[in-house]
Amino acid sequence: AHQWRGVIREYADRLPMLEGAPVITLGEGGTPLIPAEKLSKLVGANVYVKFEGLNPTGSFKDRGMTTAISMAAKSGAKAVICASTGNTSASAAAYATKAGMTCGVLVPDGKIAMGKLSQAIAHGAQLLQVEGNFDDCLTLARKLGEAYPVDLVNSVNPARIEGQKTASFEVIDVLGDAPDIHCLPVGNAGNITAYWKGYSEAAVGDDAIATKRPAMWGFQAAGAAPIVLGHPVDQPETVATAIRIGNPASWKQAIAAREESGGIIDSVTDERILAAHRLLSSTEGIFVEPGSAASIAGLLQQHERGAIPAGATIVCTVTGHGLKDPDWALKEADGSAVNPTRVPVDAFTVASALGLEG
Ligand code: F0G
Repeated sequence: AHQWRGVIREYADRLPMLEGAPVITLGEGGTPLIPAEKLSKLVGANVYVKFEGLNPTGSFKDRGMTTAISMAAKSGAKAVICASTGNTSASAAAYATKAGMTCGVLVPDGKIAMGKLSQAIAHGAQLLQVEGNFDDCLTLARKLGEAYPVDLVNSVNPARIEGQKTASFEVIDVLGDAPDIHCLPVGNAGNITAYWKGYSEAAVGDDAIATKRPAMWGFQAAGAAPIVLGHPVDQPETVATAIRIGNPASWKQAIAAREESGGIIDSVTDERILAAHRLLSSTEGIFVEPGSAASIAGLLQQHERGAIPAGATIVCTVTGHGLKDPDWALKEADGSAVNPTRVPVDAFTVASALGLEG
């Protein structure tokens, strides 16, 4: 029987960097592109959701970690390090374990979703909570990578971008061509850089699989929107802790993706992010973490502005699984707690509570 072999083997011909490297994989990639009927109707376009929460550690980071850790293994590295708002650390810890390496993780103090923290710890990472934000953590991790025998596996590592670009190939493989528009959340801006590289490579050469490239629509959280504002944000704040970043490492590349694709980079408020989070889980059956819902919030905001071309094919990447940060689902829109209804062991009462009584 055949099973998906992970992005390095599935896209070997498009990943020349990985030639000759040992393949460290957990079977990442091959995630579903889900037609979103309700969203499509709402915005008058053909909307698909690329559900990256279904990767082995629950986020898109696994696509870049299989390549980064494989390259580290090729170079004989015994240890890797990363800065992270949570998902990178979970992924790095898992793939380092698979490769038999040690993994150091620098996370911002107190702003990490519990699911992500527990993953890094479960996989045996050496986790340090830094008294600073993500940007401070990344500065530290870069210094350590330069001065000590440890490989940096943040998205400033080109191998990360190589792996993550495979998501574009998967979208094209399913749709038969590139979409018209691709929406995604933007934090450190590695992923928008990777998607754009993937789409660009897919549309050129004898082995082209696409006839066009999409407009890239990136969305930052309003309290952490340096690219939109045009300057770094010292104290980024958002409920979407995954993208709570004030000085993205791939800032220039994100601007290039926007310019070359005729796209946009805009911001969405926390309120809109949480509303989109709720809409996705309650109408499409897709549970994501708040940061991931920024792509959907952005799509809906563009719709309100009348900016969605009728009948366009639109892909929204949702980057991480809802179980990473499940608390948000247990709050009402006004912030109060959701309380389950208690019932006795009695069929009639249960039926009434479920509304089955005519
Ligand atoms: N969505 C999720 C769920 C993320 O975890 C991240 C980044 C992004 C979107 C933004 O992607 O940084 O490539 O623009 N998380 C990083 C981390 C920063 O440490 O896990 P980006």
